[in-house]
Amino acid sequence: MISPGSAIGVLGGGQLGRMLAHAATRMGYRLHVFEPQENCPAGEVASREFNFEYREVERLKEFARGCAAVTYEFENVPVKPLWEIEEIVPLRPHWEVLETCQNRAREKNWLQRHGFPVVPFAEVAAGEDLSQAIRKVGMPAVVKTADFGYDGKGQVKVRTPAEVAEAVKAFAGQRAVVERFIDFKCELSVIVARNPQGEIRTFPVAENIHTRHILDFSIVPARIDPAVQREAAELAVNIADAFGLVGLLAVELFLDSDGRLAVNEMAPRTHNSGHWTLDGCVTSQFEQQVRAIAGLPLGDTAMTVPAAVMVNILGNVWKGQGKEPIGSPNWSGLLSHPRAKLHLYGKSQPRAARKMGHFTLTGEDVATVFKSARALKTGLRSP
Ligand SMILES: Nc1ncnc2c1ncn2[C@@H]1O[C@H](COP(=O)(O)OP(=O)(O)O)[C@@H](O)[C@H]1O
Ligand SMILES: [Mg+2]
Repeated sequence: MISPGSAIGVLGGGQLGRMLAHAATRMGYRLHVFEPQENCPAGEVASREFNFEYREVERLKEFARGCAAVTYEFENVPVKPLWEIEEIVPLRPHWEVLETCQNRAREKNWLQRHGFPVVPFAEVAAGEDLSQAIRKVGMPAVVKTADFGYDGKGQVKVRTPAEVAEAVKAFAGQRAVVERFIDFKCELSVIVARNPQGEIRTFPVAENIHTRHILDFSIVPARIDPAVQREAAELAVNIADAFGLVGLLAVELFLDSDGRLAVNEMAPRTHNSGHWTLDGCVTSQFEQQVRAIAGLPLGDTAMTVPAAVMVNILGNVWKGQGKEPIGSPNWSGLLSHPRAKLHLYGKSQPRAARKMGHFTLTGEDVATVFKSARALKTGLRSP
């Protein structure tokens, strides 16, 4: 067990690291952050900040020597330098989990090999013919870069031969994955935690609504059959077991109109769709991450409210997009709802699709909370 007073290290200094720092310091740990960019959101609340490239192995080792365990909040960390960290302190989750989740082809193959449901897909090696993979999968299809995709970046939908030709050009020379486009009923996610002793807990299933490929709303409880919720949770537990996970893992799922679940992707860390747990759960996902990597007993994941809705706040809501941003969103309008909780990540430059913060609204029933949350979101833009 890693006791309070010890330092926990995190690779990546974005908002997930920042909220982890809040949770860790509240429990008496120190949080050290390793992040190439200065003035990062996590650095502001961390005990120590290392601003170096992930490839600077000597710096990484120095960082690791100051920590009792190291985790990550960002997936696109090169894997090789992490082996050096594992020589010094436990890396949680271990590097193989990260390596599997980093690359869509590897991830889908791993899931399939372990018997978990995935959307029909075909791999495209660098330089290989993409149109063949599209033929195999069928149209409409989605082409995704195998590496470094997030928030819908590096993805295109193809419906017509002309779009196939365009995609062939756009992805020339890249490793890619082609997936059948799913006309899903809804998107779901389950966050699961496992500690070194093998204790496992899942958070309540969230229903996620994306707009332009970026998470817009997370709604809890998900408005689906409780039997499907149990099935989704079971999937996440089995995935955590199959990995021998130590830490947190988020599983994104599609639910199709026939009631079938398929895993879309996984992230071995806290997840945007779990931010509501800060305001609606006995234990937040960040506290659970601390407990799991420190080898503490896991916390209760029961909701403290009947319903919670999380809304992302993107740079778009600042006025004067494309120019210098003017003023700020209507925070007092938002907070005039006494149950709205505002979380901002300390980012100074609001850019269109940048996640600047989020708010959570809780209440007695999902329909009312969701309706009010949408109105509050719209109100952020009004004077
Ligand atoms: N095969 C698919 N069928 C339908 N929609 C998809 C498909 N793949 C992705 N999407 C949509 O795009 C979003 C982002 O895709 P995802 O694979 O999760 O990539 P990332 O979140 O890494 O950008 C999904 O949440 C979903 O809304
Ligand atoms: Mg996703």
